Amino acid sequence: MVKARLVGTGSFVPKKVLTNLDLEKMVETSDAWISARTGIRERRIATKDSTSEMAAKAGKAALKAAGVAPKDIDLIVVGTVTPDMTFPSSACFVQSHLGVRSGAAAFDVSAACSGFLYALDVANKYITSGAARKALVIGADRFSRLVDWNDRATCVLFGDGAGAVVLSAEKGGHGVLSCRVHSDGKHWEMLYADSPCPPSPFESRAPRSPYLKMNGNETFKLAVRTMGSAINEVMEETGLKPEDISLLIPHQANLRIINAARERLKLPEDKVFTNLDKYGNTSAGSIPIALDEAVRLGRVKNNDIILFVSFGGGLTWASAAVRW
Ligand SMILES: CC(C)(COP(=O)(O)OP(=O)(O)OC[C@H]1O[C@@H](n2cnc3c(N)ncnc32)[C@H](O)[C@@H]1OP(=O)(O)O)[C@@H](O)C(=O)NCCC(=O)NCCS
Repeated sequence: MVKARLVGTGSFVPKKVLTNLDLEKMVETSDAWISARTGIRERRIATKDSTSEMAAKAGKAALKAAGVAPKDIDLIVVGTVTPDMTFPSSACFVQSHLGVRSGAAAFDVSAACSGFLYALDVANKYITSGAARKALVIGADRFSRLVDWNDRATCVLFGDGAGAVVLSAEKGGHGVLSCRVHSDGKHWEMLYADSPCPPSPFESRAPRSPYLKMNGNETFKLAVRTMGSAINEVMEETGLKPEDISLLIPHQANLRIINAARERLKLPEDKVFTNLDKYGNTSAGSIPIALDEAVRLGRVKNNDIILFVSFGGGLTWASAAVRW
């Protein structure tokens, strides 16, 4: 049986750091409130890099780590909801930035903060079906363009960045063991941003605000519930038990959400990776940035079982188990 093995990771975050103290000067908030309610201390803000440029830098680092040449990539999937343009896709720009061969497939998937795991699921299916041998899977978002910097309820939560993974078709026990993605569109109003397209002159509906809108309390409760059920789903499918898990890398939205999910699973703190204190919620970038950091810190070793779990606008939620 061919599996999609994760053979290299990479990430990119912009240089500009925006701390909670900086935010105190912009909106009615405090470092104490943000730290206590979310665990976030600072985030990165893109000042010149577009989403596809951040994605390409993360992808380049992942290719280098994997020792894979751009010419060998058959497929690029980018999870993002902040593409540079409505079209072409960010993945097409990444293809061009990296010099991936003409004729490879490249497209984006839109699943907000679950974008990376949705992209992983698609690429995994291409590889296990034999449609691709090597794939570049990227999660990248630039939410600093989407948040209303006058809205303290949302602007303190997000940051910009991208992470990437190279998948390679390999026989044996390493790679994606299970990947599950879900959505429930009836909750779309809990977390959304309207289209950046200009309104049509024929439109009868008043245009909504282009900024991100969120019902924080309801999103919080749903996130805890769906993260727990998503983790259980991949554990049941693979027959894994909590003691088999080497590391859980959850979507980095809020430390309280992560801790609630961890307690449900009865996992010790050292088996859950977090870096949201430095980056905030980077949407689709969140999980692959954390994975790359965990790899670089030596927290991921050969044969380890790594679990990923996410939730986001849509609503969407997803989980995956991989053997490293
Ligand atoms: C946004 C979130 C941190 C708010 O935390 P909370 O404990 O639910 O706080 P509440 O929304 O109940 O607000 C409590 C108070 O803090 C205030 N507040 C909100 N944002 C604030 C800020 N940045 N600074 C200071 N006070 C703030 C509110 O106005 C409210 O004041 P009030 O009691 O006078 O009305 C939390 O709901 C959350 O993380 N939700 C999930 C968000 C998420 O993960 N989204 C991304 C999904 S991928």
